Amino acid sequence: MSMFDLTGKVAVITGSSRGIGRAAAVSMAEQGARVVVSSRNQTDCDAAAETINAAHPGHAIAVACDITRAADQQHLMDRAREAFGPIDILVCNAATSFMGALLTEITPEQLRESMEVNLFANVGLIQKAVGDMTAREDGAIIIVSSIGGHSGGSPLSGAYAMAKAAETQLARTLAVELGPKNIRVNCVAPGLTRTELARGAWEDPARQAQMLSRTPIKRVAEPEDVAGAIVFLATRAGAFMTGETLIVDGGKTMA
Ligand SMILES: NC(=O)c1ccc[n+]([C@@H]2O[C@H](COP(=O)([O-])OP(=O)(O)OC[C@H]3O[C@@H](n4cnc5c(N)ncnc54)[C@H](OP(=O)(O)O)[C@@H]3O)[C@@H](O)[C@H]2O)c1
Repeated sequence: MSMFDLTGKVAVITGSSRGIGRAAAVSMAEQGARVVVSSRNQTDCDAAAETINAAHPGHAIAVACDITRAADQQHLMDRAREAFGPIDILVCNAATSFMGALLTEITPEQLRESMEVNLFANVGLIQKAVGDMTAREDGAIIIVSSIGGHSGGSPLSGAYAMAKAAETQLARTLAVELGPKNIRVNCVAPGLTRTELARGAWEDPARQAQMLSRTPIKRVAEPEDVAGAIVFLATRAGAFMTGETLIVDGGKTMA
């Protein structure tokens, strides 16, 4: 059996209607997993699930979920279990990049909104999924953070970067809590990736050139580049890794 085989596994992936989450859902289905596609928009989720089912019949369902709503989080897990059974893999990927407010000027509402979607929601999702993993003494949780939470401060993405940095510690703490139950918790921290979230950076030639000038691999990441790391952490190949953050940035942070 391949080290990357996910046959029989059930994966819930937030924010998988497009971008990195969608690439992760496609890649996991290719490895045999049954995947739950999710975002706030049911139509977009249906489209992503249809594409996956066309190649792998019966391997995807689509469930709308605003991750900031506790009732939606519970509905997502309930629907996953009804359709496919206990959850083996949770990918906390959905996020929004809240750019433009200096931390010296940000309102409490803006700060709370950013922390809700980029951090607190993931704690709620993990709490609602982890029971299945604890019962089986097996599971993988992958949180998609960002190199923005690792590198030097940036004035326009302070709230986002704070939440992403906290995700790294969330993974470490949960890794210690859940390791004895054989549940692994890791982060994947992408650099600039060609998705809607970062369109402003990669579509603007000057900004892209500035980012790539300090990146050894001279290109913007494709969503599949990041999905590979997510799949690795979900499979037997990543079975002895926990509490870590895999940086997938073409060497930018290292350089
Ligand atoms: N792209 C990059 O350069 C980059 C770099 C570092 C880290 N990341 C991280 O990578 C992850 C994926 O981002 P992406 O680049 O793939 O962005 P994306 O293409 O904009 O996709 C974001 C996904 O999350 C969903 N989403 C947003 N808010 C949500 C909410 N409140 N509830 C549920 N779903 C929600 C979106 O769908 P709806 O809006 O329809 O709900 C969409 O499916 C994020 O954690 C991001 O911080 C990205």
